[in-house]
Amino acid sequence: MSAQTITRRLTQSDLAKLYQAGEKIVMFTCYDASFARLLDAAGIESMLIGDSLGNVIQGHDTTLPVTVADIAYHTAAVKRGSDRAFIIADMPFGSYQESPEQAYRNAVTLMAAGAQMVKLEGGREMAATVEFMVQRGIPVCGHLGLTPQSVHVLGGYKVQGKGEAAAQRVKDDALALQDAGATMLVLEAIPAELALLVTAMLDIITIGIGAGKDTSGQVMVLHDAFDIPPGKKAKFVRNFMDGASSIHDAACRAVAAVKDGSYPGPEHTYNG
Ligand code: KIV
Repeated sequence: MSAQTITRRLTQSDLAKLYQAGEKIVMFTCYDASFARLLDAAGIESMLIGDSLGNVIQGHDTTLPVTVADIAYHTAAVKRGSDRAFIIADMPFGSYQESPEQAYRNAVTLMAAGAQMVKLEGGREMAATVEFMVQRGIPVCGHLGLTPQSVHVLGGYKVQGKGEAAAQRVKDDALALQDAGATMLVLEAIPAELALLVTAMLDIITIGIGAGKDTSGQVMVLHDAFDIPPGKKAKFVRNFMDGASSIHDAACRAVAAVKDGSYPGPEHTYNG
C-alpha cells in the first residue's frame, strides 16, 4: 500500500497499514491553514498541532504557557486547511496531569476542534489516564525521552535515555503506554540504538525526532525543517530549504528523504 494513492482524510487504520507494510510515516508539526494546505499537497501523512507553537508562533522560551484554547484554535485552522493528513493535537502542560477526568475533558475540546488523536507526555504515571481516555473514544499518542513540558525537572533540553538504567525506564514506560492503549508513541532526543529497541519491542507506531532512523516514522518541527528563522538548530534538524526551489519543493524533499531512509542520517543521530 502506498499512502500517496489515498486522497481522503487518513485514519488511524491507514497509518497502521503503512506501519505494517514497513513504509515510513511522515509527520510535520503544523499550526495554520496555509501551511496545512502546503503540507497536504506534499503528501505528508500526519500533522501535529504541537505545543511547540509556544516557541515558534508565540515566542515563548518554553511550551509551558500554551493553553488548551491555543491548541484548539490552531487545530481548527489546520483542519480547515487540510483534507488529507491525520491530525494530532498536543495536550498542553497542566491540561491532563491532574486526573483522568481532567485529561478526558480537555481532550474532548481538542477532538471537537478537529483532532483525530491527542498526544501527551509521560510514561507509567500517565498509563491510567491513557486507559481512561482510550476506553472513552479518544485515541492517544504517548511522548517519551525529552519531554519539553518537564524541562525544569530535566534541567534543560538534554538527550534522554543514556545509560542502562535510563534506557530501561524508557522501555518500561513505552510498554506501559502500549498496554494502556496508546496507539502511537513519539520518541524525542534519545540514542538511536534505544529507539530501535523500543520500536522492535512494541506493536504500535513509533515516531522519532532526534531518535535515529529506525522508528516507524519521523516528525519534524515545520519551522526547523524550513529554517524559519534562519540559524543554528538542534543536531537532528535538517534544513530542507537547502537546495530547494520553493517551500513546496522542500516539503516534497522531506517526504522523500524520510521514505527512502536518507533522513535522519548519522549526522542527525545521538548515540548511547
Ligand atoms: O510540540 C511539538 O512540536 C512536539 C514534537 C517535538 C514532537 O511535541
